[in-house]
Amino acid sequence: MFSKFNWLKLNFFKNKKFIITAICCTIGGVAAIATALLNKADSDSENKNKNEEKNNEQVVSNEDDKNKEELKPDENIQEEKKIEENQQKQKNNEEKNKNDNNSNSQKQKNSNDYSSNKQQNFHNEEVNKGDENWAHIMVNKSNPLPKNYSSNVKTIKILGKDVDTRIVDPLMSLINHAKNQGINIGLSSAFRSNKYQEGLFNMRKKEYLQNGKNEQEAYELTSKYTAPPGTSEHETGLAIDFASISNSSANLNEAFANTVEGKFLQKYAFEHGFILRYPEGKESTTGFCYEPWHYRYVGEKLAKEFYDSGLKTLEEFFEKYPKFRASL
Ligand code: DAL
Ligand code: ZN
Repeated sequence: MFSKFNWLKLNFFKNKKFIITAICCTIGGVAAIATALLNKADSDSENKNKNEEKNNEQVVSNEDDKNKEELKPDENIQEEKKIEENQQKQKNNEEKNKNDNNSNSQKQKNSNDYSSNKQQNFHNEEVNKGDENWAHIMVNKSNPLPKNYSSNVKTIKILGKDVDTRIVDPLMSLINHAKNQGINIGLSSAFRSNKYQEGLFNMRKKEYLQNGKNEQEAYELTSKYTAPPGTSEHETGLAIDFASISNSSANLNEAFANTVEGKFLQKYAFEHGFILRYPEGKESTTGFCYEPWHYRYVGEKLAKEFYDSGLKTLEEFFEKYPKFRASL
């Protein structure tokens, strides 16, 4: 039997247990609420960061799209390939006809085609004689080529592209110089006939027209990167669009400047007679946007003079030293 005192004592202990339990529950509850609030704050801030990241990515990808859009109509290898294939077919037919008529002249032509490793050792005394005055020409929108110029250019296939026969040795010495440093440089584009340049220009202009530009706008936008026929250095066989083998996604866009191949060219191309023709920030002088892949053969001596002059464009160089300039 419990006495009243014992009963009270028991009740007190029971209540104490209850009070302690209640306090624990309250503390637990408060802790749980606090944790939940903290988690919510974390997740809000995480979401905010994610959204910011996403927005940044969007900006980058929009910029990429913009660059692509600006560059797409210009030096698009696929498009060039299409034209090249069509022209190649035409050329093949012409060759076939010629071949039927004169098999000897065809043999001579084939002997000029160095599309294998033989290219690396190509050497021809004949084509490199002279003081290279022929390389001191200036071609741009204000200095168009005489009519039929490109049809008189003697070309030879090197690394899959046609170039003026006279630049084979310097081109191979540049490419082999890079190779010795473990860098493989490719060619995206070299000689283009006047017809080819015309096809390329019209195709790119058509894209702008299809995108809602009027005739004049389409002409102006196209000629930022692609020379109107008759004004392209490619029609001389002395211009090369170099390609990066290590990072082909950088080809024919400004990222080429940061590839190993692009950096090598910036440093050593002039030693072999080639100069960067459309540098950054000189659009108003050259008439073309920055093209870190487009180099022009001007001859070894002139390239060194050019380099030493500190000038950035051939236009400025010939204006300052007109005696070096050869007429077209
Ligand atoms: N991309 C250069 C300017 C040309 O078309 O000749
Ligand atoms: Zn080019």
